[in-house]
Amino acid sequence: MSQTEEFAADLEGGMAVITGASAGIGAAVAARLAARGLDLVLGARRTDRLESLAAALTQEHGVGVCAHALDVRDSVSVEAFAQAAEDFAGDRGVAVLVNNAGLARGVARIPSATAESEDDWAEMFDTNVMGLLRVTRRFVADMVARDRGHIVNLGSLAGIETYEGGSVYCATKASVRVITRALRLELLGTRVRVTCVNPGLVETEFSLVRLQDADQAAGVYAGMTPCTADDVARCIQWCVGLPAHMSIEEIQVQPVDQASAQKVHRRKTDAST
Ligand SMILES: NC(=O)c1ccc[n+]([C@@H]2O[C@H](COP(=O)([O-])OP(=O)(O)OC[C@H]3O[C@@H](n4cnc5c(N)ncnc54)[C@H](OP(=O)(O)O)[C@@H]3O)[C@@H](O)[C@H]2O)c1
Repeated sequence: MSQTEEFAADLEGGMAVITGASAGIGAAVAARLAARGLDLVLGARRTDRLESLAAALTQEHGVGVCAHALDVRDSVSVEAFAQAAEDFAGDRGVAVLVNNAGLARGVARIPSATAESEDDWAEMFDTNVMGLLRVTRRFVADMVARDRGHIVNLGSLAGIETYEGGSVYCATKASVRVITRALRLELLGTRVRVTCVNPGLVETEFSLVRLQDADQAAGVYAGMTPCTADDVARCIQWCVGLPAHMSIEEIQVQPVDQASAQKVHRRKTDAST
């Protein structure tokens, strides 16, 4: 078997680690990779959800799935999670790391922001940027030592364009893109791949977490067809399954109904006519 075919073949029976797998895109990536035959280590704070997902994927696809508590804001939790993942992987090592855990909190504009907004800003930076760095640092050294692996980071269209009320979330996702690019440079000469996936509007629990209001969250997707979590998972599955000599640096994926961060085509619905 040639060197270029080796990694894709390794994916069958290999192991992937997914952060933020208790909902949305992370859970959808877990389903896609399990269907390809990868064993999984799933992390998030809501372990009841992880355990249900793990049981369902094992039953459906016959893969091994380890559900383990993870708070990417907590170094001790990251260390325990990484140790459990390494134990689960054994000699195989981790083939794929999907840095998916992330969130937006609020839509505060800086001129009218409050002291509470600072807590939201800190949570976003600590989760989306520091959390990603904590997890990456813990796994990447072993990938380099094995000279194989693939790190997929969840950026966002918000990391490419900015909008009012999104300054800090946009800044965190711009950071993810910059970190991805720097890591790519730092890993040149190894066979470890790094990819940044930048979705536009995807209907998950993301808007509910951000806005803390079900009606407002539903309004984000009103009259348009957003991407699904599985649409994004499909892109990630494609990236990790490509031959080992190919590197997808960045993917931007949006609904057809969204042409920029705030340019969204909304069709009239029965309720609005
Ligand atoms: N939905 C979109 O429109 C969209 C667009 C572009 C990019 N993204 C990015 O895609 C990623 C996934 O978002 P989603 O849309 O799937 O949202 P979601 O449905 O709210 O899922 C977010 C996931 O992140 C986990 N998470 C949050 N904080 C965490 C922490 N401190 N430690 C560990 N896990 C944590 C959550 O798990 P627990 O709460 O159980 O810990 C959950 O599993 C995020 O990075 C988001 O920024 C989303």
